[in-house]
Parts: sequence; C-alpha cells; structure tokens
Amino acid sequence: MLFSPLTLGELELPNRLVMAPLTRLRSGEDGVPGPLVVEHYRQRASLGLIVSEGIYPSPAGRSYPGQPGLVTAEQIAAWKKVTNAVHAEGGRIFAQIMHGGRVSHADITGGHTIVGPSAVAIEGEVRTPTGKQPYPVPHALTIGELPVVMQEIVTGSINAIEAGFDGVELHSANGYLLHEFLAPNSNVRDDSYGGSPENRARFVIETVNAAVAAVGSSRVGIRISPEHGSRASPKRMRPMSVPRTRCWWTALPRSTSPTSAFCTTSPRVSWSRISGRASTARSW
Ligand SMILES: Cc1cc2nc3c(=O)[nH]c(=O)nc-3n(C[C@H](O)[C@H](O)[C@H](O)COP(=O)(O)O)c2cc1C
Repeated sequence: MLFSPLTLGELELPNRLVMAPLTRLRSGEDGVPGPLVVEHYRQRASLGLIVSEGIYPSPAGRSYPGQPGLVTAEQIAAWKKVTNAVHAEGGRIFAQIMHGGRVSHADITGGHTIVGPSAVAIEGEVRTPTGKQPYPVPHALTIGELPVVMQEIVTGSINAIEAGFDGVELHSANGYLLHEFLAPNSNVRDDSYGGSPENRARFVIETVNAAVAAVGSSRVGIRISPEHGSRASPKRMRPMSVPRTRCWWTALPRSTSPTSAFCTTSPRVSWSRISGRASTARSW
C-alpha cells in the first residue's frame, strides 16, 4: 500500500510517503534559501511528495531568524533552484505557506508589527537574534485589515507557483496565524470572525478560497491541528472535545473549494473519526 501510486489533485505520486514540513532555519537574515537547502530537498526527491518547511509570505509573517520567505525576487529565484533540483530527480514538492501571526517578535520581522486575531500574547519567551524576550502582545487585526493579510498569503501562494512548486499547503496548524483564528485561547473576538466555531473558521475558509481562486483547487492543501490549543501554556492546554472540533472540521472542507490535500498534525484524531465518514482522497 505504502509503495503504491496515489493521485493527488493533478499529481501522480509514485508512492504514498509524504515528507512532513520541517523548519530548518538555514536561509539567513535575508530569507533566501541557498545551496544547502537545494541539496536538502534534492536528497529527498524519491518520496511521493515533499512538503517544504514553513515559508513566510510577508515580512510580518516571519516567525524565526533564518526562516526562508517567498516575498522578494531573490527568494523566488532561489526557490526555483530547489524546485528544479527536486523535479530533475523526478520528485514533487509543495510549499508550506506559513504566516506566523503572534509567534514572532519585531526583532525577527525587521520591525514589522506582530499581528493576531486578538491582543493576546503567548506566555513565555521567544528567541530573537538579540536573545530571549517575552512574546509581544499582537496587534488585533481589524476587519478592514483582514483582506490585506489574506492577500499576503495569496500572493505568497502565487509566488510559490512562480518558483516552480507543484502546489501549496496553507499552514493552519501548530499555533500560527490561521490556527490562531481557529483556537479559542488566541481568538477572543466578538465580531463575525470570533465566538462560535463557524465564526472562528471564517478567516481560514476565506483564505483557502482566495488561494484556490488564485492558483487552482488542485494546487492548494491545508494543514490543521484539531486538538492543539494555540500555544497555550501546558497548564492551560485543554484538548478540544471531538464533538466540538467536529463542528468546524466538517465546516472547513464543505465551505472551501475542494483542495487537493487535507493534512492533520494529530495522529489521535483521524479524519474519519471527526467526519464520521471513511477517509476520502482529501486526507493523507
Ligand atoms: C524540527 C521540526 C520542525 C518542524 N517544522 C514544521 C513546519 O515548518 N511546519 C509544520 O507544519 N510542522 C512542522 N513540524 C511538525 C512536523 O511536521 C510533524 O507534524 C511533527 O514532527 C509530528 O509528527 P506527526 O505529525 O507525524 O505526529 C516540525 C517538527 C519538527 C520536529
């Protein structure tokens, strides 16, 4: 089974081994991936599909020093070398588009404002180039600012396709911006983007649909982590109940244009358990 082919959107995977996105932080201050990154992905091209490390779509969306971006012409040209190397070896690679939201610091974003759904800081410290500092209180995005951030994620997706990636995976897991909207501990909004599970899912759904409109449904995937709080401290971490999670999990794929891939980060909650259906081609 593992070594049998799989059709994923318009891609034919020769096997079902998919490399999970793994942040490497090897792209310097300018966020431009170099030869080491080319070699890293080239060596893994025999997998059915590679999902890249999380790549920031705008300077404000950068979470880590050394993280690569898909913003500047230099970054796009550098990623072309990576995708060319993977394709030359017969492989396939998606870019993980990751807006970090409140998981950052102005010393990492080059002074760009740290944003989130609500003005709720993560407890603890963030590693910056100048040492550990408390996580900042993010600027709560206004309704008028949401389309701007969404467009950053869409532009990052368009840039990924220009750089030769076979598709994009929108990072809506592990406590970064899209997950921050989904999670009740980081989203305490009282407007149409907060409160009920459906409202908390609204920004994610709109972003997926905008990315699909820009690059096509066969080239967009999404990653979610249903049981995580969004960077809650362990003592406050409350796993979401399956019935509660089911609400927006099922709302999410139904409200979005069909995407090529649907990936979760929780081995304990399977798509079939949440949806009450057998696994579909969307889950891997
Ligand atoms: C060093 C390291 C870097 C990671 N970077 C990312 C990342 O950039 N994007 C992401 O979605 N997950 C990232 N993850 C999470 C992994 O993709 C994966 O989900 C995690 O290791 C747990 O494995 P599992 O999902 O198979 O249980 C990272 C994990 C590790 C250990």
